[in-house]
Amino acid sequence: MNILVTGGVGYIGSHTIIELIESGYSVVVADNLSNSNIEALHRVEKITKTKIPFYKIDIRDKQALDKLFADNKIDSVIHFAGLKSVGESVKHPVEYYDNNLISTVVLLEIMIKHNVKKLVFSSTAGVYGEPIELPLKESSLVGVGIFSPYGRTKYMIEEILNDLSFADKSLEIVILRYFNLVGAHESGLIGEDPNGIPDNILPYISQVAAGLREKVNVFGDDYETPDGTGVRDYIHVVDLAKGHIAALKHIKQGVNTYNLGSGIGVSVLDLLNAYSRAIGKDVPYEIVTKRPNDVSSNYSNADKAWEDLHWKTERSLERACEDSWRWQSNNPNGYRTS
Ligand code: WQD
Repeated sequence: MNILVTGGVGYIGSHTIIELIESGYSVVVADNLSNSNIEALHRVEKITKTKIPFYKIDIRDKQALDKLFADNKIDSVIHFAGLKSVGESVKHPVEYYDNNLISTVVLLEIMIKHNVKKLVFSSTAGVYGEPIELPLKESSLVGVGIFSPYGRTKYMIEEILNDLSFADKSLEIVILRYFNLVGAHESGLIGEDPNGIPDNILPYISQVAAGLREKVNVFGDDYETPDGTGVRDYIHVVDLAKGHIAALKHIKQGVNTYNLGSGIGVSVLDLLNAYSRAIGKDVPYEIVTKRPNDVSSNYSNADKAWEDLHWKTERSLERACEDSWRWQSNNPNGYRTS
């Protein structure tokens, strides 16, 4: 089976390609490298000992995408390509709607033209907005109170996929809603490499631990949570990548949606303590004011993924911290070191 992975050079894409190849799939990668470094793909080739066909294209470029499908027999698509910074999307909403929505519409048009019927879509727990119930199930309310254009683009794409499936029952679509990603491949060769100041907590903690930043700013400690700091569902990126293999193996007609999470709520202070234990030294932090639009708690019920896909998380938070630290300490400047 030949899988097209859009956005395959990114943090999740690169980890997923390793699992695809190690599961016996062949892969073609399309990425415009706007928010990723080709060095990541070179390292994936080194880890898998496999040459990976790569197309440096923007998925919105219909002609280029059409040629990719004409030149390669594609059986299924895993669609990661898209902008994903919550903060950036608030400042530049049009760029997010253009990039995330248009790229997906063009991809769907070209898939249909080439009779490619299987799609795994990278969505986010952000579509649940401010959770009304916890833990979050796939049947929980979505689309209401989403805090960012980024999260809204993912919700809109889920709606587009549902409409498409209603029009063409032969399509086989899986939507995967990611909770909070952490960790890196055990080799220490690939990992999360954010541009500039990290939005997300774990790369920020890693950079403080490496002495690249002074301290972690903990956004608020008076939430309605056990220790007052924000609670999230952290999932190892390799477990998430394996969730995509499980999705491909069980894909079927219609749209099936799954939470990819651990089902465990972890506070910011719990995470800091786990990281400190993993690296054997304290990580300096300071409690500061809350970040606007942060929810107090957000964690999953991932039973459906186990029941349908026989997938669940296997790697602990401590393991994720150890793997993250190995990546950070081996690559203080991310992929720019080579
Ligand atoms: C986690 C916790 C913060 C930074 C976002 C997107 C979501 C998904 C994951 C793509 C919160 C606290 C953070 C810091 C802190 N992205 N924090 N200091 O906001 O839960 O989710 O990333 O799919 O869609 O919304 O992730 O890592 O930013 O925050 O105290 O410097 O850490 O308040 O409680 P978030 P995050």
